[in-house]
Amino acid sequence: MDIKNIIQMDKDCMMHHLTQHKVYLEGEPPVWVKGEGCTVYNIHGKAFLDATSGGVWCVNVGYGRKTIAEAVKKQLEEMPYFALSAGNIPAIQLAAKITEIMPGAQRKVYFSNSGSEANEKAFKLARQYGRMKYGTDKHKILYRYRDYHGTTLAALSATGQEERRMGFGPLVPGFVQTCECNCTRCPLGKTYPSCNIDCADAVERTILNEGPETVAAFIVEPITAGGGILIPVPEYFPKVQEICARHNVLLIMDEVVCGFGRTGKWFGYQHFDVQPDIVTMAKGMASAYQPLSATVVKQEIYDAFLTDPADRVNYFRDISTYGGCAGSCAAGLENVDIIERENLLDSVVEKGDYLVKRLKELESLPSVLEVRGRGLFAGIEFVKDKQSKEPVDESVIGKIMGYCAGKGVLLGKMNRSVPNMNNIINMAPAYVVTQAELDRIVDTLKEAIASV
Ligand SMILES: Cc1ncc(COP(=O)(O)O)c(C=O)c1O
Repeated sequence: MDIKNIIQMDKDCMMHHLTQHKVYLEGEPPVWVKGEGCTVYNIHGKAFLDATSGGVWCVNVGYGRKTIAEAVKKQLEEMPYFALSAGNIPAIQLAAKITEIMPGAQRKVYFSNSGSEANEKAFKLARQYGRMKYGTDKHKILYRYRDYHGTTLAALSATGQEERRMGFGPLVPGFVQTCECNCTRCPLGKTYPSCNIDCADAVERTILNEGPETVAAFIVEPITAGGGILIPVPEYFPKVQEICARHNVLLIMDEVVCGFGRTGKWFGYQHFDVQPDIVTMAKGMASAYQPLSATVVKQEIYDAFLTDPADRVNYFRDISTYGGCAGSCAAGLENVDIIERENLLDSVVEKGDYLVKRLKELESLPSVLEVRGRGLFAGIEFVKDKQSKEPVDESVIGKIMGYCAGKGVLLGKMNRSVPNMNNIINMAPAYVVTQAELDRIVDTLKEAIASV
């Protein structure tokens, strides 16, 4: 391979995601050419321990899974595509599997391609359902400060991270920000448990202020991911669900990151006593071997669309050309099968407990405010001093990550998300990570902190 030529072609022709293009024009864009387990190799043959599962927490079963590649190949040779107005075998089987791993309510599965798209479908379903069922102008979608729901314009309009939105306005009308649940920096200045979960009551205040007859849904992440690994207290979601139900507001759970085992259960919401009305999922669904996402609705939402077939408007008139592509669903099925065959949910719990226990050692350092984690998903929040909780500058996080990358360990960070709050390093290694690899991640991070 002509390495120099490939890199020059990248510089000449590519626009990379999320990166200031000048960085790569002046430096060298990374090019990954191979992966095995938790290790990725760049174009120069240098190995890196990838604690990010592909940069954005999605290669959950690890690199080099031949059985997924084979399942996709077999399906593509047999029947690559037909629009999902018809069925294909892997899509049908995957839908059945998804409903099986979401016990407690009967559900139906609507496939699409990306997390953003799954959320767009959720908003469209919620708006149409609200109007059809209640006959009022239910259309507003509430979202929380610090949650991320995607990059398309409506998903971005539902995102509580101003640095992601800047420059792209005007955004879509009908999206309203409400209070987050964050005990580390309680927006209401309260302390758990004497707070009485007032952050949930704040959501109700937003619904009442907007007028419940105008509010269709409330979208949340089970654990706020890109916004800083924020884990709600156990009472939060049950209370939120009760409030939503009382005002006929659908609860949409964005499981794009947490879904398919990242936190040690199939879905993040399953840690809490809650049954969301709509659940969206993507990333770990096929461990990113193929693009795949879904919007899963409770039976009563599906039933509301069972109108007279002669009615030209009141059914879910939506399509996604590649949604539920046979090859993607074949990858998704094999991915779920691997998680079951190899008992990976148990592994995530066991390894995650170990990772968080080791990371907690960092809390004795003056710059580490808190370590938060559930399963193989963890964040470390850095501050200038613990008293004021003033966040460190983004450049400090950059130096720590740079040090680790220099030692061959790739970490993630809160990236240009919430103004003045990009002070969190995160990690989400693949479920096949070994204890030795977890030790290497934590030890390298310790060295890095000492070095800045
Ligand atoms: C919680 C959450 N929702 C939605 C998305 C958007 O997913 P996608 O990038 O596949 O559109 C992301 C992406 O990181 C996410 O973290």
